[in-house]
Amino acid sequence: MSFTPRTTTQRAAMALAVILTGSVLLPASAANPPDQATPLALTAIMRDLSKDMQGVTDGLAREDWPAVAQRATRIADHPQPPLAEKLRILAFMGKDAGHFRDYDRQSHDAAQQLAQAAQRQDGASAIAAFANLQGACLGCHQRFRQPFREHFQGQP
Ligand code: HEC
Repeated sequence: MSFTPRTTTQRAAMALAVILTGSVLLPASAANPPDQATPLALTAIMRDLSKDMQGVTDGLAREDWPAVAQRATRIADHPQPPLAEKLRILAFMGKDAGHFRDYDRQSHDAAQQLAQAAQRQDGASAIAAFANLQGACLGCHQRFRQPFREHFQGQP
């Protein structure tokens, strides 16, 4: 039993593949084994976001602007997962991390605009900002929810 020594050409091809793709080419399952040891804090953060969104719709219906502003500020300043979990998530996302951050920033900005509109009691702008906020939630979910659930929760 011995490892077949690689030729110089094979080594060069592998090095090039690493440079071009930014990763060693492994079968998907080996490069990306499931990571389900610890449940994600992200899930609890998401549930809180959902409750605050419900609080916003209720506040809009009542024109309770202080309530809308308070909920929107909480959404904008939502807690982040602990560092170790962020590293797990970053390792999983690889090159997609930039898109994830973009959606996060988009939701942060829309939530801030919603809070400001509520403080001005500007209903039309509040509704527009709320639509943008929901667009950010939906965009990130459409792109990331299923892969996250499969990878971190073993659920399709
Ligand atoms: C940057 C990406 C991103 C943004 C923005 C985002 N989510 Fe999520 N959300 C996820 C991912 C990934 C999951 C699936 C993983 C999980 O459940 O932990 C998820 C799951 C959820 C869930 C399901 C949690 C459960 O109980 O299984 C809810 C509810 C949720 N998000 C609400 C929201 C709301 C409301 C917003 C907008 C205010 C939002 N999310 C914005 C990434 C995002």
